[in-house]
Amino acid sequence: MSRRIGMWMYQNGGGDKIEKKIIKKLRERDIKCVTGINPRQAIAENGDIIHNGRVASSLDLFFSYNAGEQTQYQVFLYQALNRIMPMINSYEAFSLTEDKFQTSFLLQNHGVATADFKLCHRDDSEQLREIIRKWDKMVYKPTDGWGGMGLTKIENEATLDMLLPLLNQMDLRFFYVEKFLNYDNTDFRVDIVDGQFVGCYGRKANGTDWRTNITSGGSIFLREPDDAVINLAKKAVKVCGADIAGVDIIYDLEREEYVVIEVNGIPAFATPEQEKMGLNFNDKKIELIVDLIDRKTIKSGNDKRDKKKKKNKTDKKGK
Ligand SMILES: Nc1ncnc2c1ncn2[C@@H]1O[C@H](COP(=O)(O)OP(=O)(O)O)[C@@H](O)[C@H]1O
Ligand SMILES: [Mg+2]
Repeated sequence: MSRRIGMWMYQNGGGDKIEKKIIKKLRERDIKCVTGINPRQAIAENGDIIHNGRVASSLDLFFSYNAGEQTQYQVFLYQALNRIMPMINSYEAFSLTEDKFQTSFLLQNHGVATADFKLCHRDDSEQLREIIRKWDKMVYKPTDGWGGMGLTKIENEATLDMLLPLLNQMDLRFFYVEKFLNYDNTDFRVDIVDGQFVGCYGRKANGTDWRTNITSGGSIFLREPDDAVINLAKKAVKVCGADIAGVDIIYDLEREEYVVIEVNGIPAFATPEQEKMGLNFNDKKIELIVDLIDRKTIKSGNDKRDKKKKKNKTDKKGK
């Protein structure tokens, strides 16, 4: 029986064309794709998940690649879906990389350099005062943000005093803060698929903002990573258990070492405009994703067959 996978992929910024290329390459390997499966339109009914009249258990794998439209409902179904089939990324890796605190915590625990950070209960805001005295400057970060949104640089105790009443009003459970790193306002975005290096580009803050995000005015430039950057990215992705990830890395001028700022579980492909600029890793990324899907679906097929074989064997033994 031929294999069949479900896909939910972003369509803007050239995503639709990338999706078509992936589908074509999978078809050449006799793997069919059911596209546009938005978990928002799915319902879970008893032991299965149903979308457009199709049951999830008829699929061999689910490829989820849409960062723009994640809601709690979709994430909830992501988790359920991953109980019954392989997913790229796995729910575990997806939910880990969605959370900056959980990610930095695990990375540090595995010896991967990140910015120093602290997480404290909202009632312990006094802690923050001690921390800023020690660190001089810090960044308040929402643990689930993106695009530089909500990041607040706290330059001194006076700024902290101004910010705390605001934060207290927001009914947060905790405060997550990082030491503000002295860096040259550029970063590396390193894409890794299946443990392999795919491509890299740089981002530069616009001169008035300290953040490198495009949404914060940053711009993209061609950048060759050295081995230290590539190896750091690979290690971070391995620790996170992600099949696909884009790692943001900066060079900490104080510690004189590369530091992982963030692991993104759904890193965008280069847009058509970026491709024109010379970002030419899309085809390699597609190839590696197709290989990965191929391998993961063959494996699950074998597993089923293996189980059957084993069962037959035991049956025979019993006779
Ligand atoms: N600890 C830090 N020190 C200095 N700059 C930082 C720090 N953390 C983040 N930044 C800057 O802010 C940008 C956004 O931070 P990041 O944690 O990647 O959040 P987002 O998910 O919003 O992109 C980074 O690309 C970097 O330029
Ligand atoms: Mg980032």
